Amino acid sequence: MSNPPFEAFPRRDGNLHVEDVPVAEIAAQTGTPVYLYSAGALEAAHDALAAAFAGRPHVICYAIKANMNLAVVSTLVKRGAGVDVTSRGELFRALRAGADASKIVYSGVGKRDDEIQAALEAGIKMFNVESRGELRHIDSVAGSLGVRAPVAFRVNPDVDPKTHPYISTGLKTSKFGIPIGEAVEAYAEAKALSHVDVRGVDCHIGSQLVSIDPFADALALVRNLVVELRAAGHAIDVIDVGGGLGVTYAEEVPPSPAEYAAAVEGSVGDLDCEIVLEPGRSITANAGIFVTQVLYQKGTDDKHFVIVDGAMNDLLRPALYGSYQRVEPVGPARGGVQKIDIVGPVCESGDFLAKDRSFPRVEEGDLLAVRSAGAYGFAMSSNYNGRPRAAEVLVRGDQYRVVRERESLEDLIRGETIPEDL
Ligand code: LLP
Repeated sequence: MSNPPFEAFPRRDGNLHVEDVPVAEIAAQTGTPVYLYSAGALEAAHDALAAAFAGRPHVICYAIKANMNLAVVSTLVKRGAGVDVTSRGELFRALRAGADASKIVYSGVGKRDDEIQAALEAGIKMFNVESRGELRHIDSVAGSLGVRAPVAFRVNPDVDPKTHPYISTGLKTSKFGIPIGEAVEAYAEAKALSHVDVRGVDCHIGSQLVSIDPFADALALVRNLVVELRAAGHAIDVIDVGGGLGVTYAEEVPPSPAEYAAAVEGSVGDLDCEIVLEPGRSITANAGIFVTQVLYQKGTDDKHFVIVDGAMNDLLRPALYGSYQRVEPVGPARGGVQKIDIVGPVCESGDFLAKDRSFPRVEEGDLLAVRSAGAYGFAMSSNYNGRPRAAEVLVRGDQYRVVRERESLEDLIRGETIPEDL
């Protein structure tokens, strides 16, 4: 029997909570805008995936790009997660959060030598190599350190993940990986180098995938490649299946962890490989909300704008991808429904959090919660329009802690100087 899903954001007496803490109570202390995360929801999402793969050797390398807050990463690391990093900064964060270097994989198309060196010195599990030029750099940096670098090639299978074009990575028109048809030659080159150890094959085709088919199609091609590489004498014992499992923002029904695990098992299960997973969104998206306050309202003939204190610099996804995230009042819904756009203070027409929503009537000072904001929310935030970045709060049960302070005005100009001599 499976456990009932963890209810991270219950509504009690009409008031939205994070676990057992009223959202309004936190917002009164921290101010708005603010990101709130549920520790229980992070753990439940991690544990559900771990349980689905429990029958086979695997490592969950949480894709830290989705939410890099130290407290969030530490919560997952304590659950046994490793980390997928894409930069020296992410590696630094992962290690600071307590990640075990032997469970860190390093992906990304543009690794610099200093980044390669830092990862080798940390002793990471594996580099996911995205070009033959990068392979040669890894070999050379490893040589200068007198070590051997564990590598997999990220192969691009040319499979359409049927998601937003900006987050599709497995098509041959994308910059990611090496074409799967060139893999045999690339692995032969790797084998001939003296400071790399070929360990595996990696494939990540995109993000927010809500159907199992693209995963299965890509893995079928990876399977054939592993068989071919083994026949050519390569010791392939790791398959990194990437991330990409979708979540419910509106009505999507993504594959469950069990369906996902079954698809992986069905395609590569008989190859006796360790499976590396790189989930980001599916662990953190629905463990977080973004809370913002209504500043003003105004109408035109066609539109009713609700102007809030959160903006595209805080939560970029609606502006960048036109993506939908649910919004709801934090307090009990007021009577009456109207069609509104929820917009921020930034000087761009693209600065909206929601468009054309049927929404209960709101008043100045009301708090609104944007759901599914735990992934690619704070992580993509900026200081555009001179806006300090929001605070972040982690909740567990009836306790909460500010895990990142709201930026100050001084933070906005940190590192800047006015050169008097120019
Ligand atoms: N592994 C690699 C190599 C990746 O590039 C990504 C995401 C992941 C794993 C994690 O994918 P996930 O499980 O989170 O789907 N900012 C966009 C999403 C960009 C995803 C980039 N790569 C958004 O807000 O939708």
